[in-house]
Amino acid sequence: MRLDKFVSSQRNDISRSMVRELCRKGQVTVNGKVAKAADAKVSENDIVAVKGVEICYKKFVYIMMNKPQGVVCSTRDGESKTVLELVPPEMFREGLFPAGRLDKDTEGLLLLTDDGPLAHELLSPKKHVDKVYFARVEGMLEQSDAAALAAGLTLGDGLECLPADLEILEGGSCCRITLREGKYHQVKRMLAARGKPVTYLKRLSMGPLALDPALKPGEWRPLTVPEQG
Ligand code: URA
Repeated sequence: MRLDKFVSSQRNDISRSMVRELCRKGQVTVNGKVAKAADAKVSENDIVAVKGVEICYKKFVYIMMNKPQGVVCSTRDGESKTVLELVPPEMFREGLFPAGRLDKDTEGLLLLTDDGPLAHELLSPKKHVDKVYFARVEGMLEQSDAAALAAGLTLGDGLECLPADLEILEGGSCCRITLREGKYHQVKRMLAARGKPVTYLKRLSMGPLALDPALKPGEWRPLTVPEQG
């Protein structure tokens, strides 16, 4: 890969033309030697530094976010703040997107990445990755609701849901619900179909990835290496 591409792909704040300028000023080193040309070839194993600050090459970025309410998951929105706007510039990359959307008023686990194949693994309907949510509802959940979800609900519009697990919490006002698919507004639609509209919803996990309880709404952290699988 060219040196200017290497640097600009890893540092959102340094464009390729800036790399050329930095090379002219002798401020870029490769394996400790001043790089003269921005089109020099480098590999992922080379140690590249700009103004003495080493660039750790990462092919993809993985960010775990506790999505707050009031923020949308689309990559662009004229009116509302997007989850991408919560990512600090030094973590931002072209191609970063939320893998698995949450509604504007839903909180909780969101993975932001530029790794298309990983996102596909998590999101493909064929993979049936478990998604676990905490929900608070109007009214009281009963064992008959859990039984109906376990049997597989059919919604008013004919959508046939796969069997889902419902664990009743706090005497019936809340639940933990596990889906193996991710249709539009699915948790809200399923619980509304049982006459228990959702008043608060939070995603707790997606497959093996669980929301870090230390992250407050709006906070994020990079995924650890074991979490990246
Ligand atoms: N189900 C919903 O209804 N909303 C979400 O944001 C996620 C799952």
